[in-house]
Amino acid sequence: MIKSSVADRIADIELARLDKKNAFTGEMYAQLAGALSAADADAAVRVVLLHGTSECFSSGNDVNDFLKRPAGGDSPAIRLFDVLPGMKKPVVAAVGGPAIGIGSTLLLHCDLVYAAPNARFQLPFVPLGITPEFGSTYLLPLLAGYQRAAELLLLGQPFNAEKAKEVGIITAVFPQETLLAEARRAAMALAALPPESIRLTKQLMKKRYGTLLAETIREETRIFTERLSSAEAKEAMSAFLEKRKPDFSRF
Ligand code: COA
Repeated sequence: MIKSSVADRIADIELARLDKKNAFTGEMYAQLAGALSAADADAAVRVVLLHGTSECFSSGNDVNDFLKRPAGGDSPAIRLFDVLPGMKKPVVAAVGGPAIGIGSTLLLHCDLVYAAPNARFQLPFVPLGITPEFGSTYLLPLLAGYQRAAELLLLGQPFNAEKAKEVGIITAVFPQETLLAEARRAAMALAALPPESIRLTKQLMKKRYGTLLAETIREETRIFTERLSSAEAKEAMSAFLEKRKPDFSRF
């Protein structure tokens, strides 16, 4: 489900559960967190390149897993919440197709994010009866300003690469055919630069908000976990799996 290899000082990490649009299972979170921390610790690696295919990045958390999670159980994403924001080496992401839920919020922790015009971002936590995660309630208002963040987080509607660039979630847009090659080119440029300068610059940029970010992630995770067993969430998620419109009129 997560494929990982190292060549030319780049750790290539691929999300590969395409039959379910790269929806994250608990095992995938663990594999991704493991691959990222292995890359951070590997002296042969200077940069991480994270991608799906040019047709699909990720449809977010597996909705079946949300419904199956025991009330109050630990989030399987917790290790990823810890590892990705703390990466010492730069992470370059390439996004084509859906980047939903954690497929969008994990991008807020990457360093360079490239997307193709077919990318569809979405933060559908409210429409799913839950609340945002992975520091997005802190980082998105910081990046985009409160009102633009509120549009994305409260309405939870899909938005395209142009909008993602305007709000600051992505670095640049490249044609779908060259997306991966361009992301790789950027990764190679980073890999050729002095690694200690990169490490220190990244550390300086992230230091200011590190504590607040960690606090936000903890608080979001607690509220998110409570929301998962809410009647609103059950209705929203069952509706998705039953391929029908949810009905929130009785809440
Ligand atoms: N969890 C579980 N299964 C998922 C999934 C998810 N997040 N996203 C997609 N799938 C499954 C679908 O149920 C379908 O399974 P099936 O073939 O057994 O019916 C398969 O992946 C293909 O998805 P489908 O919806 O048919 O593809 P599409 O191209 O029409 O739409 C998406 C793609 C990503 C736009 C759509 O699947 C979607 O909205 N997914 C849910 C996103 C979501 O709400 N994620 C939670 C974020 S917090």
